[in-house]
Amino acid sequence: MSDAPAAVDRAEGGRRGAVAAKVVLFTLAVIGFFVLVGFYVARIVGSAGASGAAAGAPATGVSPEVGEAVFWGKGKCSTCHSLGDRGSAVRCPNLLDIGGHTDERARAAGLADGTAYLVESLHDPSAYVVAGYSGDTMPKVFQPPISLSGDEIRAVITYLQSQGGTVDAAAIQLPPDMEGGPGGAPAPAGAWKPYLAGDAANGEKLFRQGRTGVPPCAACHTVAGEGATVGPDLTDVAVIRGPQYIISSIVDPKAEVVSGYQPVMPPNFADILTVREIHDLLAYLMQSAGLPPDGGAPPGG
Ligand code: HEC
Ligand code: HEC
Repeated sequence: MSDAPAAVDRAEGGRRGAVAAKVVLFTLAVIGFFVLVGFYVARIVGSAGASGAAAGAPATGVSPEVGEAVFWGKGKCSTCHSLGDRGSAVRCPNLLDIGGHTDERARAAGLADGTAYLVESLHDPSAYVVAGYSGDTMPKVFQPPISLSGDEIRAVITYLQSQGGTVDAAAIQLPPDMEGGPGGAPAPAGAWKPYLAGDAANGEKLFRQGRTGVPPCAACHTVAGEGATVGPDLTDVAVIRGPQYIISSIVDPKAEVVSGYQPVMPPNFADILTVREIHDLLAYLMQSAGLPPDGGAPPGG
């Protein structure tokens, strides 16, 4: 059964192990990129993936209904998690009946109760990693680019509580850094920024058509419903994994192979693409995820 919205079906993203931060040229770390993204975060459309009664409702207040809209929309949770047979993501834990399992998880993790476990799952995803999954895969959803507010996090927690457990908004105690605010929570330290401002239109052209000597990405990947499915759908990859990961995936695809896929991505893009073209592709993937296409590159860069 599939009452999941197209945005969810498209998005098979997420998963897989540690980011190999080895691509020296591109890992010139400059603090500030995510700060800039934070200013644009309001542009990420929150209601796109909402469904049922919650469709179109603005994410205000704390209730399972609001949390449902966050889960299937702005929170991008459904890019990685399904709930029972709703949603299409397969590579991260299915959260069916999660509300009924959290007390036992809390005991295993040495936490006070199930609600504390849900808070911890979102605050520090690597603290307690579900068996068989990598703790690096789940983003901190209170930080850019997803930047859920404190109330949106409370709402999504009540939604998870409602999956087989008891809804108790009053029991939710968020650490101060999860409270967010207008423009989102503070940027993580050590945030990375691209090297040049890319041209999203040229990136799209390269992605769709390639050029002499460069195969089109669309021969294997889908963006916005168009392309092939040899590799993962890349529509929202910039939101769930970030720009640094995208660049390293292009220039060093073997560094981290997405689980469930064959390692068939050509390994020579770093040789056949120019640095500018790599940034054009990044700009295109930023844009497809609703992020500023310049990726916060330095003014005039
Ligand atoms: C990029 C993929 C990704 C996204 C986006 C994501 N998660 Fe996760 N999540 C994971 C992975 C992988 C795990 C398992 C590893 C771990 O426990 O950290 C996980 C674990 C969890 C757990 C613990 C599950 C359990 O069985 O104990 C909860 C709860 C959770 N996620 C909720 C959410 C919510 C709510 C959102 C959206 C606000 C979200 N996740 C977004 C990948 C993701
Ligand atoms: C011959 C098929 C093929 C081509 C062409 C190809 N890719 Fe891939 N790509 C894959 C496969 C398969 C994976 C997943 C396995 C892996 O991680 O290596 C992947 C993974 C990725 C990822 C990581 C996705 C994720 O969800 O984590 C990104 C980003 C990416 N490719 C971007 C590109 C871009 C940009 C181009 C064009 C310049 C491109 N790919 C061309 C097959 C391809």
